[in-house]
Formats: sequence, C-alpha cells, structure tokens
Amino acid sequence: MNDQTPTSAERAEKLEGMGCKRKRVEDIRFVQGKGNYVDDLKLPGMLYGDFMRSPHAHARVKKIDTTKAAAVPGVVAVITAETLKTVNLAWMPTLAGDVQMVLADGKVLFQNQEVAFVIAEDRYTAADAAELVEVEYEGLPCNVDPLKAMSPNAPVIREDIKDKKEGAHGPRKHYNHVFNWQAGNKATADAAFAKADVTIKEMIVYPRVHPCPLETCQCVASFDKIRGELTLWGTFQAPHVIRTVGSLISKIPEHKIHVIAPDIGGGFGNKVGAYPGYICAIVASIVTGRPVKWVEDRIENLSTTAFARDFYMETEIAATKDGKVTGLRCNTIADHGAFDACANATKWPAGLFSIISGSYDIPAAHVSVDGVYTNKAPGGVAYRCSFRVTEAAYAIERAMDIMAQKLGMDPVEFRMKNLIRREQFPYTSAFGWVYDSGDYQTALNKAVETVGYKELRAEQKKQQEAFKRGETRNLMGIGVAFFTEIVGAGPSRNCDILGIAMFDSAEIRIHPTGSGICRLGTKSQGQGHETTYAQIIATELGIAADNIMIEEGNTDTAPYGLGTYGSRSTPVSGAATAMACRKIKAKAQMIAAYMLEVHDDDLEWDVDRFRVKGNPERFKTMTELAWAAYHEVPPGMEPGLEAVDYYDPPNFTFPFGAYICVVDVDVDTGSTKVRRFYALDDCGTRINPMIIEGQIHGGLTEAFGIAMGQEIHYDDDGNVTTASLMDYFLPTAVETPKWETDWTTTPSPHHPIGAKGVGESPNVGGVPCFSNAVNDAFGFLGSTNIPMPHDNWRTWTAADKLGLHP
Ligand code: CDP
Repeated sequence: MNDQTPTSAERAEKLEGMGCKRKRVEDIRFVQGKGNYVDDLKLPGMLYGDFMRSPHAHARVKKIDTTKAAAVPGVVAVITAETLKTVNLAWMPTLAGDVQMVLADGKVLFQNQEVAFVIAEDRYTAADAAELVEVEYEGLPCNVDPLKAMSPNAPVIREDIKDKKEGAHGPRKHYNHVFNWQAGNKATADAAFAKADVTIKEMIVYPRVHPCPLETCQCVASFDKIRGELTLWGTFQAPHVIRTVGSLISKIPEHKIHVIAPDIGGGFGNKVGAYPGYICAIVASIVTGRPVKWVEDRIENLSTTAFARDFYMETEIAATKDGKVTGLRCNTIADHGAFDACANATKWPAGLFSIISGSYDIPAAHVSVDGVYTNKAPGGVAYRCSFRVTEAAYAIERAMDIMAQKLGMDPVEFRMKNLIRREQFPYTSAFGWVYDSGDYQTALNKAVETVGYKELRAEQKKQQEAFKRGETRNLMGIGVAFFTEIVGAGPSRNCDILGIAMFDSAEIRIHPTGSGICRLGTKSQGQGHETTYAQIIATELGIAADNIMIEEGNTDTAPYGLGTYGSRSTPVSGAATAMACRKIKAKAQMIAAYMLEVHDDDLEWDVDRFRVKGNPERFKTMTELAWAAYHEVPPGMEPGLEAVDYYDPPNFTFPFGAYICVVDVDVDTGSTKVRRFYALDDCGTRINPMIIEGQIHGGLTEAFGIAMGQEIHYDDDGNVTTASLMDYFLPTAVETPKWETDWTTTPSPHHPIGAKGVGESPNVGGVPCFSNAVNDAFGFLGSTNIPMPHDNWRTWTAADKLGLHP
C-alpha cells in the first residue's frame, strides 16, 4: 500500500453510508419545481370529476335531479348512487371491516358527504355543474357527541346495520356501537386500585384533528377497454394495498391493474385508505372510456377524508404514597364518525392503543375501547402516529403529571421512579408487548441536565411568587414527557391488512458497472427514502450511495409491500434492504473466492471489497465483482447480481424519547409563547442524522399545531366549523418555535442494522409535552387538567375559571 492509497476509513466516508448527513437527493428536483405530482399529470383526452356534497350532517335523500347539471356544455356524465348500483359499487368495503357509501344512498350521514360526481371536459365546468345537481333532503336529528352516541334515544346513524348484533370486531351493544375491544387484565388492575394509597381518575380528551398534508388526496384513473386494464395514478401511501383492494372491489384481475404513486406532498396517514373519489374516477373512466382526474380541494380534504384521534380517554392511575405506580385503567370512547374506516392492522380495532403503559413499569393494567358512530366524517388514521400510539402516549403522559401533582412530587422525579430500568429489557409490559431495548434513565438524565431543569424550576417558583404578589401576569410552565413508541408493523403474527401479512420488501439489482437499483414496497411522502435506503446499501455493499437508484410506488415494478405509515419503512423495508444486500454480498463473496482462487472462508469484508485474510493486497472490489457477476461467475453459478427480500419482522421496534418544554402564558390574553423545546430521541442506529433532525422538526411542528390549536370542530347541527386553513391551525414558520434536538443511541437487538423508526416520535412525544407545559403553568393554582387545544381562547377561559381575571 503506498501513501496515496485511501484508508478503509477514507473509502467508507466516500460511500456516504449509514451515519452520514447525506444531502437529500430528491430535493434536487423538488427545489427546482420539477417534482412529479398527481396533479402534474396530463393525459390526452383527460376529463375531470368533482363532487356535489351534502350541506346537511344527517338527512334523508328524497330525490336527486341531475338534469340541469348534465345539460351544462362540457359535462360528459353525472354519476349518483343509482349509477354505481349498476356496477355494484354504491358501497365499498373499508379497511376496518365495515362498508361505506361511495355516493349517498338513501341518506347522508355527515356534512360534505359525497352525493353526486360530475365529469366534465375541465375542472371548472365540473365544479360549476356540481352546484346544479338538485337534491331534495329531509332533515334528521343529528349527533356529533360520541359520549351521547349510545344513549337510548340517540339518532340511528347506520340504518343499514341497525339490527346487527355482531360487527367486524365482535358483539355490538347499541345500534351506534362499532366494537368493544379490551386488553390487559381487569381483575389484577382492579385489585391494584382496591389497595392503592392514591388514585387519580381524569377524562383526557384528544380532539379530532386532521393530518392536512399540503397536497390533498387525488388520482387519475385510465381504463383501457381494449386491453381491459386499469392504470391508477394517485396519492397512495400503500400502492399495493390499493391494487389488491381495487381488484377485489372492481373484479378487474389484479395483474390488469397498474397502480402508480408518483411524488407525494405529505401523507401523515391521510393517504392510506380508499376514498369515494378513487372509486368514482375509476367508474367514470370505465363509463366514458377516457382518463378521469379527481383532485380534492382543501375544504374537502379537511372535512371528508380521514380524520385522526377523537378519543375520550377516562384514565386512572393507582400508586403508593411514595410514588410507585401500581395500576392503570383506561375506558375510552372512540368517535369513528359515520363509517368505520380506521386504518389499523385488521386485528386491532383500536390500533396499538395498549402501548398506553408507556415507558413505565406498571404491574397491572387494563384498557377498554368502545368505538361509536356519529354524524362526522369517517377515518381514524394514524396521523404521524403508529395506530393510536399518539392517543395512548397523550393519556399516560397527562395522567402521570396529574398523579405527580396529587402526590406533590416533581414530574421528573415521579417518572424516574417508574421508568422501566435498563436491566429489565427486553421488557414485557402488562399488555404483553415485548419492548426490544431501551435506556430510559440515561435519556431523561441527559435531557434534564441539558436544559438545566433544576434552575428552570427555581425560576418558575420565583415567578409564581411574583404572580401571587401581583407583580407579573405571566405564568411559566415546564412540560415533561417521556414516551415509548411501538413502530414497524409488523410481525405477521400480530398484523395484517385484510388478511395480507404486514411484511415489507426490497429488491436490489446491481448492474455490471457496479451501480444499482433498489425497488421497495414502501412509498416516501417526503421522508427522504431515496436518500436513506441508498445509505443502507452503501454501507452493506460498499457501493457509493450516489450510485444507487431508489424506486418506490409502481406496483408493476416494485416487490409487493404494505406501504409507508406508522414509521414502518425503516423497521421493515430498511431491514429488507439490509437482508437483500446480504444475499448479494454472499454471492459476491463466492465470486471473489473463485477469482482469487481461495476458499470463501479465507476472505474478509473491508468496506467495499473482499480481501484475503492476512494478505490485504489481494482483493476484489464490489465494482470488480459486479462486472464479474455478468461475465466470469464460477462454474455452475447463475450469472447476475440481484436479490429480493420479503422481511417479516420478529417484533416491533420501540423508539423512545425525553422531551422538555418551557412556556410563558399571559393570563390576560391566554397567549402562550414557547420559550424552549428540547427533544431527545433514541431511534437506535441512525441512518442519516440530518434527515432524522428534519423528521423531528416536522413532527414537532405538527405536535405544536395539534397541542396549541388544531381541532376539527362540529357545531350541534353537525356543521364543520374548521374546514379551511383560516380556521384550522396549520403552523407556519412565523408561529413555529425553535427546536433543540438531541439523541442517545440504543440499537434494536432484532433489526439487522439496529435501527428503529423515527418519523412519528416527535408527534407522539411532542403533544403531551406541550400540553403538560400549559397545564404545569396553572398547576400551582389547583388546576389539574386543561384540555387541548391550548389556543388563546381556551387558555384565557381556563385562567378565567380559576378566577384570575379582575
Ligand atoms: O415509515 P417512515 O418513512 O415514515 O418513517 P421512518 O422509518 O421513521 O423513516 C423516516 C426517515 O428517517 C427515513 O428517511 C429514514 O431512513 C430516516 N431514519 C433514519 O435515518 N434513521 C433511523 N433510525 C430511522 C429513520
């Protein structure tokens, strides 16, 4: 080796593999406006569809007259439920085992429900004509309060299943009941409460919110009558699932359906399920023989496509008087809206809500969730969350603060006392989850020390005294949250979607010149997959990340996968990528042994090459081996260098984090300023620290939006009062605080590269942290639970209730 020969470390650095802050390759096209989104697609002869929607939340549809709409020049067809019945598509199955009207069939069940679909030569004609569809309604009493849904005289929401005693998830106890789901052990939990020194019980409400991606839901359907083939471009987080479900619903053979998800402008769970717009566009294309585009506007997105949360969680904690938690109970009413269209793994009607024991060693616990129907839009998706983890984390983290307050203990001290200890991992929770790895005390200690927690508490005490003396009208709040996520759905023994096991996949082909392509069953919506999957391959195969093309979203070319949501890409497809690399590497090793005329076992891997043990001058680089794979493979070996891996993870991964927030609340205006927000995340092995930081920033910004202002709100008549961005709080750079990020690294023991997911974590941990901070500001005045969202009006009202206004 001469002085110019790069060292192993230098060669490794050049690869831009795992751990490198590699710049996002997809941004080259995004920042130049060269992204390719659904609405960029223009096909010859393309038509446009738009919905006529119900102004009523609950009404019988007596008559629909489409004559005037159909007569508008440029209108090609108008579709109603009657049209859809001729092809047996008036209703569609949901991912949760329910059925949902595609277009109003006999009545409407929520405001803005789809009633008729107008297809025209251009979008504006379709929209104008939709207004001319005449509908005769007969108003019905409506209910938007989930806590009243199962009262004896509640309006019947679903007449189609009114008398059904069994739903998709077991017995129904009322005509508006969807399911009851329980986990844990009620008897041991009750026993813990019977002998507890101290208990708390609080209704903790996580309001209805909406993922609100910047790009709304949309599709283009193009049916080729000659070939009998359907091509569907759309904003799909899970393209293969859409293909399979599309085939089951439409009866078009699955191999004749081509689903393509191009660039997606944010998903956050909103783009997992199937919507009436997709079905109508497909039917419209079949009927007209032309491609049909459907693009939601903002109001339609906020008021009709999948909402999130809407959980009413009566949460109880039992503890000893010195602060050891002994029991947890939670009875939840989940508002599912008019149809159960939750996007969960099939066996889990309340998702992974039983992660509610959080990061604490709680010996006895029980949860019960009742889903109910109301006159609201369907949904119940994981908005930057792993199937109801966000609700669970909010409940436990609020409840822990409420208990600490009752015990007179500091929230950090109380958490420290109850956190699962490092030596307890792998830890089995009272709900049966096996937490893979964690080092919680180290993380919380680091957080507390970095922010100067003690000093902050001392400052807060001084300020509270000054407030009592009337010297200030500001209150300082310090929020603490310690969360554990459960991501990477999932082990097929736990998780499936409509019977399809939740594995995921990667297929890698290395080309003769040593570059390659990797296709995956996941689909990035902004998470930077094109950058980070290539980094895994770079480290595993010694090929520069720049020489690997990542492709997702085309069901004709990608191996079957379940898509991207719930931070599952890294835990599942990230693992599949590493495993596929290892298959390729094993073959490359055999080729190297043949070329170097040694036994396979005499070779060792060094960054980007196999070298002969004890004789490092004799080696074959991955580039040389790629070339050899196509022209001098050992006798009997098939040529080529490619592999596919379908990875069924042995367990979920359990990322965690310690968050601390400092707020200043003006009691006279209710305005809350976030002074500091510190987020320490542990997502195991870090593939790209810069992308992780971006994920944390984005998720915290969403958490800030949710905690401080977001709510999809309905008035008593079922009108959505927050259906535009004038009323629904989407933080911009102006309102968004500065984020301080930090990390610890505790690899997952069962993941091939030790990585856990990260995308959802800041939303899961951020929301309770903000909420705890606002509540903490008022805690010393005897307030226990000010509900979210903490906007100025509600905070002012909370202060008023405490008698703080003259
Ligand atoms: O499924 P989704 O992509 O939403 O979530 P994720 O698996 O948490 O990944 C989000 C982004 O963070 C991806 O670009 C990952 O490669 C990256 N990431 C990382 O760099 N290191 C990790 N340990 C986890 C995720």
